[in-house]
Amino acid sequence: MSTTLPNGTPAQTELPHAPTPVNLRIPGPTPVPPEVAAAGAWPMINHRGPEFEAIVTRVTDNLRYFFQTEHDVLVFPGSGSAGWEVAIVNLFSPGDAVAVITIGNFGERFALVANTFGLKVTKIPFEWGQAADPAAVGEWLRALPGLRGVLLTHNETSTGVTNDLPALTQVIHQAAPGALVVVDAVSSLGCIDLPMDALDLDVVFTGSQKGWRCPPGLMMIAFGPRGLAAADSAKLPRFFWDVKRAKKAFDKLAPPYTPPVSLWYQLDVALAMMRQEGRAAIIARHAAIGDYTRQRVQSMGLTLFADPAHASNTVTAVNAPSGQELKPLMKALRVEDGVVFAGGQDHLEGKIFRIGHLGAVQQPDITAALDALERRLK
Ligand SMILES: Cc1ncc(COP(=O)(O)O)c(C=O)c1O
Repeated sequence: MSTTLPNGTPAQTELPHAPTPVNLRIPGPTPVPPEVAAAGAWPMINHRGPEFEAIVTRVTDNLRYFFQTEHDVLVFPGSGSAGWEVAIVNLFSPGDAVAVITIGNFGERFALVANTFGLKVTKIPFEWGQAADPAAVGEWLRALPGLRGVLLTHNETSTGVTNDLPALTQVIHQAAPGALVVVDAVSSLGCIDLPMDALDLDVVFTGSQKGWRCPPGLMMIAFGPRGLAAADSAKLPRFFWDVKRAKKAFDKLAPPYTPPVSLWYQLDVALAMMRQEGRAAIIARHAAIGDYTRQRVQSMGLTLFADPAHASNTVTAVNAPSGQELKPLMKALRVEDGVVFAGGQDHLEGKIFRIGHLGAVQQPDITAALDALERRLK
């Protein structure tokens, strides 16, 4: 595509153009439906005017429905990683003792952020591919008196494992009753059941490019009453990520910064579509597609990396086929079939690949991707 200069003469250079569409089967960013994509091209508005206030009202109402909370859900510009930081700087003070339950790469990063901010971090680690064992977590926590917080990942995207959140939160509330419970739900919320209030969680966060069928760029975070109260005494410095400042502004239906208006349009449309489908139907769709994916890869003779009892309904981690190099296989799928899977992270690089099936995914998307994979297996 070319364009014209303001004086009407044709510009010399070609404008960058869109990449060729592919069957993008990574665990985020996820494909954006046409209705959501189109909203990204809507005209700019005054972000302190009535149209934006209406968007904030709809978006926060719909987010409360999906977080299953009556408390505050705030939206920040940023990716899922911002959730770790917003939670930590608003809840804690330097030297506070926290436990981080880690079952993979993202749990490790959560612990790293807590360390970076000077918290006294105890990791409760489990083997990658396994879920956290609630009984073992209980034992760890009972041996750690004075914890200010317990941080955990709902769905570990690097290993394709979903923690048993109801069992874990029950044990945390019993074994560490004073601790704030913070849940990274970046790759689960909007896809896998997560009743924030029923589980009595203090902070839960997610990212727009995962289950929400939007481009990356927005981080949505809910604070329960204990979380907000903790922000009154938390001493870690913060400005942009200050939840009290954000809440004050959102209570007046205007974020305390210039919002990425186009992303808000897109989230508004995406949430309206999701609300039409309904929470239970979305959760059931992910469960059915997750089941199908696991059965199908196993029927090809491949093996699952994750413990099947806790395999995720948003991402499936598959061991590399024996006798076949992963890199050329992934390349052939990408270049010749237009199917893109994600690789393994950290020490799992070259050992596993991951199939994303979250967001607006429908059965035919996954069937087509798995058909291509099957054809390329030797
Ligand atoms: C569970 C989990 N937490 C945190 C993150 C970090 O999110 P982002 O890459 O959007 O910063 C991710 C990203 O994949 C994730 O899957």
